[in-house]
Amino acid sequence: MEKKTYQFEYQKYNNPNELSEENQNLIDLSKKAAEKAYAPYSKFRVGAAILLENGEILSGSNQENASYPVGICAERTLLSYAHANFPESKKLKLAISVLDTSKDVSPCGLCRQTLLEYESLQGQPIEIMLHNMSGTVIVLPSASSLLPLHFNNDMLT
Ligand code: THU
Repeated sequence: MEKKTYQFEYQKYNNPNELSEENQNLIDLSKKAAEKAYAPYSKFRVGAAILLENGEILSGSNQENASYPVGICAERTLLSYAHANFPESKKLKLAISVLDTSKDVSPCGLCRQTLLEYESLQGQPIEIMLHNMSGTVIVLPSASSLLPLHFNNDMLT
């Protein structure tokens, strides 16, 4: 038997002004997107904004449904739109904002797997920034870092 460990490094900024202007802008846009969330059931408004290689910046928010499982997270609303419209453009970085908590947030399992799909496809990490009402920002290096021992397209061949 061999013992294995899994580790990854990420940054936590208590002062978002320390981030680059590009990153601060993306976070601002994710916050604005969260204001447009359709979250009447959970009242947990989430927004996401993505920067594509072609310079496009797109945003999206969570979209809930009276039939609860039909609801879609902000990240997947946005990623589906981004890939449907700009399939050739790499996804460089994604910011996620939650308006209704000051706790640290992180993408759910389905969103991690979705991020991983596009990251694996493009062969280049997608940087992920997490922002909440406390004002702190967590910067994660990639989608794969959030899914140890993940399953992806490599395993199907
Ligand atoms: N939600 C997101 O949009 N993104 C996440 O990363 C976590 C959860 C949404 C789904 C649902 O509309 C609400 O937040 C409460 O779970």
